Amino acid sequence: MSGCGGFTPGAYVGTMVGDVRALLVQDYGPPSQLALGELADPRPGSGQVLVRISAAGLNPFDLKQLTGAFKGGSSSLEFPYVPGMDGAGTVLALGEGVQGVAVGDEIFGFFGRTPGTIAELALLDVGDYLALRPAALDAVHAAALPLSGVTAKTLLRAFEPAAGESLLVIGASGGIGMFVVQLAAAAGVEVLGTAAPAETAYVLGLGAAHALDYTSEDPVELALAVHPEGVDGVIDLVNGGDAVLSSARALRPAGRFVSPLGGPLELGRGITASYVSLTLLPGDLEDLAARAASGALRVEVSRVYPFAAAGQAFVDFAAGHTRGKLVIDVRA
Ligand SMILES: NC(=O)c1ccc[n+]([C@@H]2O[C@H](COP(=O)([O-])OP(=O)(O)OC[C@H]3O[C@@H](n4cnc5c(N)ncnc54)[C@H](OP(=O)(O)O)[C@@H]3O)[C@@H](O)[C@H]2O)c1
Repeated sequence: MSGCGGFTPGAYVGTMVGDVRALLVQDYGPPSQLALGELADPRPGSGQVLVRISAAGLNPFDLKQLTGAFKGGSSSLEFPYVPGMDGAGTVLALGEGVQGVAVGDEIFGFFGRTPGTIAELALLDVGDYLALRPAALDAVHAAALPLSGVTAKTLLRAFEPAAGESLLVIGASGGIGMFVVQLAAAAGVEVLGTAAPAETAYVLGLGAAHALDYTSEDPVELALAVHPEGVDGVIDLVNGGDAVLSSARALRPAGRFVSPLGGPLELGRGITASYVSLTLLPGDLEDLAARAASGALRVEVSRVYPFAAAGQAFVDFAAGHTRGKLVIDVRA
């Protein structure tokens, strides 16, 4: 973040603008119901900044939320709801008590509350949830980083990779997989990544030593063909519940299984099971941005949608087979 600025105690700093356009969810249902609509001015509360959004990244959480997967739970929605948790844009105004960020800063980060990022304006809690966007990283690629990148870091912190170890990544071609493969390979890990035939070259290009075609054969058998004694770790981004018992067969005795989805703790043969939720540590966003800006971390955005096609982006995302990330360019 910038070195602190512009805070006037008790004052609302910045410029208010008129009604804004946003992608609106009117009720739980399929993404085909989504349409752009008008939204009242969001006003930054204490500790928040108002951001003019340049680009917004899509995540499975957004899709699960609007289709009703979390209905009745703590993530229940109030309608109309604006989806989108990842975004990049320009700080337009500061709420009370905001320090360390100034009007005009180019930032990116997590936007945890409605209205979300698929809108011309959004609110963001400051603190570790936002970081300055380096000039060498454009807004579209910055918007692809936060949720997937920090989840990848969380998973790898749980795995605790050591150079020379082997790691099977199930779901390597998607949003989180892109970062897991690259960060693990950069740590000296031998990565075996699952990939549909069309994604084989892509996953190898991320730094995987082996691309395993899960559409033609069980990836566990393919991994065991490479390492008959079993791999040191499995990060499974696809299977939850008892299905992880099958994935864990790829592990050597006392191997480590890590997942962002739930599953049984007891996997047998001395295997450690870790089920993690995204945990953002100070510096995570800055580290991801610095790696991406330097070219050390590839941020694959397989499709950029103009704002008017934001609903279509969700329809396409729901159809699956996404390479890397889908991003909406709110300015286009
Ligand atoms: N707990 C948390 O804090 C947390 C945080 C973020 C995400 N998540 C969850 O983590 C999961 C993964 O997220 P993501 O952003 O990486 O999703 P994503 O971008 O949709 O990627 C999933 C990838 O898996 C591939 N795939 C689908 N079926 C497969 C199979 N049977 N075997 C191997 N690969 C398969 C898909 O590609 P192809 O179909 O083309 O092969 C796709 O590229 C989601 O369920 C998400 O909700 C949890």
